[in-house]
Amino acid sequence: MPFDPPPNVSRKPQSLSNANSIADLLVKDSDSLADAVAKLDATCAPLLLVVDVDGKLAGRIGIAEIEAAMARGTGLELRVGAAMIADAGGVPADTDAAQLAKFAGNSARPLALLDGERRPVGLYTQATPRRVPIAEPQLGGNELKYVTECVETNWISSQGTFVRRFEKEFAELLGVPHALAVSNGTVALHLALAAFGIGPGDEVIVPDLTFAATLNAVLYTGATPVLVDVAPDTWNMDPAALSDAITPRTKAIMPVHLYGQPTEMDPILALARKHKLVVIEDAAEAVGAAHKGVQCGAIGDSGTFSFFSNKMITTGEGGMVTFKDDAVAARARMLRDHGMNPNKRYWHEEVGFNYRLTNLQAAIGCAQLEQFQGFRVRKKEIATYYESRFAGISEIETPAILPGFDNSYWVFSIVVDCAGLGLTRDELMAKLAKAGVDTRPLFYCMHEMPPYKAYAGNRAFPVSSRLSENGLSLPSSTSITEGQLAHVADALTNLVRTRRLARAIAA
Ligand SMILES: Cc1ncc(COP(=O)(O)O)c(C=O)c1O
Repeated sequence: MPFDPPPNVSRKPQSLSNANSIADLLVKDSDSLADAVAKLDATCAPLLLVVDVDGKLAGRIGIAEIEAAMARGTGLELRVGAAMIADAGGVPADTDAAQLAKFAGNSARPLALLDGERRPVGLYTQATPRRVPIAEPQLGGNELKYVTECVETNWISSQGTFVRRFEKEFAELLGVPHALAVSNGTVALHLALAAFGIGPGDEVIVPDLTFAATLNAVLYTGATPVLVDVAPDTWNMDPAALSDAITPRTKAIMPVHLYGQPTEMDPILALARKHKLVVIEDAAEAVGAAHKGVQCGAIGDSGTFSFFSNKMITTGEGGMVTFKDDAVAARARMLRDHGMNPNKRYWHEEVGFNYRLTNLQAAIGCAQLEQFQGFRVRKKEIATYYESRFAGISEIETPAILPGFDNSYWVFSIVVDCAGLGLTRDELMAKLAKAGVDTRPLFYCMHEMPPYKAYAGNRAFPVSSRLSENGLSLPSSTSITEGQLAHVADALTNLVRTRRLARAIAA
């Protein structure tokens, strides 16, 4: 068994391929290219080590070498030895860690670790973190300084200068007269609906593809959510589906700027004007996104935002709701504070809520706003990189770039032709995880989940179903390194190219 490494020197390959044993990553030079495709497909490894008849390292082969051989007109029955890159440049297995790091340099390509007979016994990979977070907070500014200030001055509740400063600066960023800081993005939605007096007997139109909080907030008021399909280009509320869903009971439309892509707002605003409906934008994921020059959340009558730790800016948990109308904003401010008359302490005008944000959280928010333009730029760079890497790959659909739409690119999300690649989206995610890439599925369709099924009526949701079944979000933290971005893109593109050949072989 020349291909089994001696057990006492076997080292698990690190990072990228550490779900595989070294034996999984070996292919014989006499094997066919089809054998190599099957191994690449099963392991999701970036390359295989090629060994000769004695089990000694002879070279390496990845999907690029197989494609190159095929481009030369050869078939998949060709011997691996005829297509590989000869001599994979392995190093002795007992090389110390510092030397290994030096040999590997900046390359993400694994180094073969060899025994005294030049037989591969392990792989060394530069320490790429096994999991690259989808979206993690970046707290490198004045966060600690401002929070310390709250503690030192004893202003930790919602009564504090950072709350007012955060609201003022956020209103300026959006270009709206009123911004109210609240405990999270869900209560921002509820407060907006409540401030407009939406309640039992009313209908609120919402997109089928969203995070459940959008619907939950409607349900908290006692109103009925009405689900509509999304558009194939924006992945957001489809204006064409909207007009059919309007009834005499409709009171509000709640478009969601999903993953930071603006909704096509003009037809929504026109319908709202015609039927005298309130427009509340769920911009939880879209701080900084803009539609035709207007910030998302400042287009309709109200906009809501989330500052959960993975959002464009964070306060840990937190949110903001914006209003254009002075009277509605004043009512929301009162409802946020237990429904208490602002001029008469402990006198309650309505049944209100405690939806306030603390000064501690607002302090973090102020520090985040100081860094926000940098976050925006970085998110765009990440999106531009992914777009460039997936541009020629017909199986990967990236967010549409539409004139006048300025995407915040909160998390870069794609839709993959899973059927064409012969796997489900969840299988695709499992393969990417094996290659060291963490992903998230796109949200499930609301009309499919038990608490929300009843709100589908007899409407159809072909677009949201297709997107939800085939969509996933890629690592998009502002702190992601260029090496990590390349690793994500390499893993996904290698996977697609390998699946193409694996499917051709199976056919
Ligand atoms: C579209 C959308 N709406 C609402 C929310 C709710 O925000 P929060 O988690 O701050 O309550 C989220 C949060 O993830 C969201 O993505």
